[in-house]
Amino acid sequence: MDKILDYEEQVTDNYDKSIRPINFDEYIGQTEVKENVKVFVKAALLRDKTLDHVLLYGPPGLGKTTLAHIIANELGVDIKTANGPTIEKTGDLAAILSSLEPRDVLFIDEIHRMPRYIEEVLYSAMEDYQLDIIIGNEGQTRNIKIDLPPFTLIGATTRAGDLSSPLRDRFGITCKLEYYTEDELKQIVKRSAGVLDVNIEDSATEIIAKRSRKTPRIANRLLKRVADFALVEGDGVITEEVTLKALKRLGVDDTGLDKVDLEYLSSIINKFNGGPVGIDSIASTIGEESTNIEDVIEPFLLQEGYLKRTARGRIATEKAYQVLNIKRENTLF
Ligand SMILES: Nc1ncnc2c1ncn2[C@@H]1O[C@H](COP(=O)(O)OP(=O)(O)OP(=O)(O)O)[C@@H](O)[C@H]1O
Ligand SMILES: [Mg+2]
Repeated sequence: MDKILDYEEQVTDNYDKSIRPINFDEYIGQTEVKENVKVFVKAALLRDKTLDHVLLYGPPGLGKTTLAHIIANELGVDIKTANGPTIEKTGDLAAILSSLEPRDVLFIDEIHRMPRYIEEVLYSAMEDYQLDIIIGNEGQTRNIKIDLPPFTLIGATTRAGDLSSPLRDRFGITCKLEYYTEDELKQIVKRSAGVLDVNIEDSATEIIAKRSRKTPRIANRLLKRVADFALVEGDGVITEEVTLKALKRLGVDDTGLDKVDLEYLSSIINKFNGGPVGIDSIASTIGEESTNIEDVIEPFLLQEGYLKRTARGRIATEKAYQVLNIKRENTLF
């Protein structure tokens, strides 16, 4: 149950594929990114040319995969998808690339986890739609060049900083996705409830929006679980009462913090005197990887003001002490 607030994609998130927006109009929020991308897509269509390569980055669950599919859909082309770490051989990449039709989108998720040598093959594919590969083995190798159809690469990553600069430079369009406002999340919850065909009170929409860590994926997940409670323990309508009861049973309180967040903050306060402390020290005390801490745990805590990041390390704020109910010690003496 403690997984309910997890940003990462879960299998059950996709049982209701219909919840996923399929065009720009259904894609709520991310206004700046959306309006810009709309212009680039339209320009490509007017020029009758392939859209430039697009890099989407930002924390998990904010709609990168969704936006990639929408771009392909609005361009009127097919989308093929691949995952960075599973492209192991240059042949894997060659196979995907040569299966593309002109102007298709190739979506590579977790592009920062692609092996370096694959990245290097990708450069020329992105730049001049050519694949430069070495085939054969042990003294019997030769270079071959394969012409590719023009295509648009859309890369998604939670860590833009981990991309090598030659790869980053080859994206003509770079978009950073932001956390959603409460109002946008309300619209998302309302829309999803409509798609799922359940009635929901405004006050219930608001509560779910508030507790979903500014993330649509979590908002949709909470909505579905609350709908279960409404159906089984009520008359199917998602009222404020059933929502509060359900969220309580799911262990989701009104701060939106989960167990790992609390553990993280309490480690800074209790083990490191509130900081400043380096990320690796925190990582080893709570048994999480530093990259996971930086990409997944910290962005929300920073945004909500529980945490400060300084040159000397992480510092827990007054708000962190309050949420954990810990009195700050007088450090003057
Ligand atoms: N702008 C949006 N409007 C409405 N729903 C959205 C929006 N963005 C995302 N969603 C919903 O949130 C879910 C998660 O989005 P998505 O899978 O695109 O996130 P992601 O950024 O690719 O996450 P990850 O980094 O884990 O791959 C989607 O299934 C979709 O239903
Ligand atoms: Mg995704």
